[in-house]
Amino acid sequence: MTVLDKKNNSQSSFKIADLEKSLLALGDFFVERKAMPNLKLLKAGDLIDALQFDKIKKAKHSHFRYIPLTHPEYIEEGIALWKALEMSESEEERKKSRVEILRWFSKVFWQGKERASLLDLIHVHEKVFWRFDRRFIENYWNCSTMLFKRSVLLSSLVTPLVLASGYTDFKFLSDVCHTTFLIDCSFDQENFSYLISQACEKERQDTPPAKLGLVDGEKHIYLSHPQLSFEKASVQCAQFLNDKTVLSLILNHHEKTTGAGWPKKITEAEVSDLENIMISLNQILSYEERDFLEGDGVGFLKDLTSSESNVELSSLPIRRLQGLLHSVFDSEDLEPMAKGA
Ligand SMILES: [Fe+2]
Repeated sequence: MTVLDKKNNSQSSFKIADLEKSLLALGDFFVERKAMPNLKLLKAGDLIDALQFDKIKKAKHSHFRYIPLTHPEYIEEGIALWKALEMSESEEERKKSRVEILRWFSKVFWQGKERASLLDLIHVHEKVFWRFDRRFIENYWNCSTMLFKRSVLLSSLVTPLVLASGYTDFKFLSDVCHTTFLIDCSFDQENFSYLISQACEKERQDTPPAKLGLVDGEKHIYLSHPQLSFEKASVQCAQFLNDKTVLSLILNHHEKTTGAGWPKKITEAEVSDLENIMISLNQILSYEERDFLEGDGVGFLKDLTSSESNVELSSLPIRRLQGLLHSVFDSEDLEPMAKGA
């Protein structure tokens, strides 16, 4: 079965079966209906539902339209570079791989010199790192699509930044990617209420826990979620982690390094660069229904860390993150190699 590809407005060689090679839809997918608006079956970034696809495959006389947002060459390059890091056997090879991955990342997400989408970055992480159990992923998706998509994006941004900060061990980076996805995993369909989703965003904007507008039961669910997420991840996800002590990062993901965070109210001197990357990005990235768009990766990280509204960008952890980003991504070390060099 072929589908219409809007990019070239013609029959594409794209097969529906290709969609199933990814956990997340890499574009918008519609069924066309006579004299009626197209019916959107999947939005870009949605978790692909196997049962839904069985029905689509059987609908032989339907016309589908697929609008891909991703850039296959950029994805292919990213997967190859990360795989090269995984196969590296010496520190010298790892350092070389680090620079090449950061160049690949920076040319889109920092420098904005090439065009790619957030879904390209996410798909590369899915293919290179993800070892999650399908049911675990489905449960999180069913809890909140907003929270799920945010976690996917957060983990796809944190991992290259941890590489930028100097960690080059592939297994460790894999653990960081999984751990970052899991920071809010204690929320589920039973306990993730509308008010708790609102509280997530209010707290991100520095609202004190006492003013989050939660009643006692919800307040407990919210304030205990770093500990509960750590415990849930320790039980359900430890089997595919190389070093489950990395999961302890979950405990501190709402600290703010000024002493205003929680639960431990830790200060800057107590926070490692690794924790600071997670804490800062978790504070900058808003809790909102995100629509993924073609080319939305261009300059994304630079814009996110320099102009996002509703968060104090001059706060200590974010200033520290900005220092790291500028020192690495504006460095001459990441300038493309001259031909023949
Ligand atoms: Fe959280």
